[in-house]
Amino acid sequence: DSSFKIAVIPGDGIGKEVIPEGLRVLDRAGELFGITLEYQHIEWASCDYYLQTGKMMPDDWKAQLADVDAIYFGAVGWPETVPDHISLWGSLLKFRREFDQYINLRPARLFDGVPCPLAGRAAGDIDMLIVRENTEGEYTAVGGTMFEGTEREVVMQQSVFTRHGTDRVLRFAFEQARQRARKHVTVATKSNGVAVSMPWWDGRAAEMAQQFPEVAWDKQHIDALCARFVLQPQRFDVVVASNLFGDIISDLGPACTGTLGLAPSANLNPERRFPSLFEPVHGSAPDIYGKNIANPIGAIWSGALMLDFLGEGEGAGRRAHDAILVAIQKVLKDGPRTGDLGGKASTTEMGQAIAAALEAQAN
Ligand code: NAD
Ligand code: IPM
Ligand code: MN
Repeated sequence: DSSFKIAVIPGDGIGKEVIPEGLRVLDRAGELFGITLEYQHIEWASCDYYLQTGKMMPDDWKAQLADVDAIYFGAVGWPETVPDHISLWGSLLKFRREFDQYINLRPARLFDGVPCPLAGRAAGDIDMLIVRENTEGEYTAVGGTMFEGTEREVVMQQSVFTRHGTDRVLRFAFEQARQRARKHVTVATKSNGVAVSMPWWDGRAAEMAQQFPEVAWDKQHIDALCARFVLQPQRFDVVVASNLFGDIISDLGPACTGTLGLAPSANLNPERRFPSLFEPVHGSAPDIYGKNIANPIGAIWSGALMLDFLGEGEGAGRRAHDAILVAIQKVLKDGPRTGDLGGKASTTEMGQAIAAALEAQAN
């Protein structure tokens, strides 16, 4: 069945500018590859909605999303009017946790025609897949404050690592590596300083690795790993990390490939018990919102990842994904480009160019 219902949540800021370009490309891909997409447009999960109602989402948000196959998401956050922990814990982080989207897949690739901030790197030199744990770890609301407002103020925040949660993300990373040419996993760690969870995480990784004799692996302290992202990015294939480490390196990786504006992500519930969520890695970018200059490629590539996931990695979904990637690469090489890529094109012009490049492949 190639017919899917998608909840479309633009959110805030440039989320509202890049999502329409993503839909433009998805629509074209749907026509070309025989995939029917029915959209449910949603205005909640935004700071505007919060300012009107005092909530980020309606109480029945789960029921409203009960029959969607996936969520196509822009970005949430408008820190000028709503504190980030309120807007994000009230929307995106709730989706990830309640829908058990425990894998956050974040590829970073250096493409032809994209100015690379690292010296001496050419297209193809950087091709990594960050696999971020997405439901636990350092991201918790567990903790508290004592002696608040006094000199003796104490703030505690717990991290939570479960064997189930850690093993499943490690297993996913090794499975991904097994399907890739280089078959290598780097495990991000910090077992020298974070003395309880990280040595344990290393132990889980070592045990998981035994089940994948065909995959080579190493572990690197997160500080050294960040330095190597910049100095030797070609070393990395699959990188698996806890929630916070994965967050940090999934901005750093794309920055090394030119711009955060390119980076896509797939928040997956691989068992498909709940809808998965597809969104660019970047946020609402208040500094550039309203000018129609944001790069829509992160959103467009995320849409491609969505079609691939919905098509279960084969058939029309896979072909549509691959064709969108080809179109993106064509435009990056010799098409219009937004400011973050050194050009002057608008968000709309980029989206139109990618849709046209997709169309051209069919003719
Ligand atoms: P950001 O990703 O929004 O912006 C960081 C920098 O990258 C800015 O200078 C911005 O202009 C630039 N940038 C981001 N996307 C771009 C694009 N597509 N094209 C060109 N330039 C782009 O991060 P931030 O400034 O830390 O966060 C702003 C708000 O977004 C905050 O409220 C934050 O919590 C939220 N946020 C949301 C998400 C999400 O919903 N997934 C992700 C990150 C940040
Ligand atoms: C991301 C974002 C979110 C995260 C924020 C907005 C809570 O930075 O998707 O990478 O930290 O996961
Ligand atoms: Mn982030």
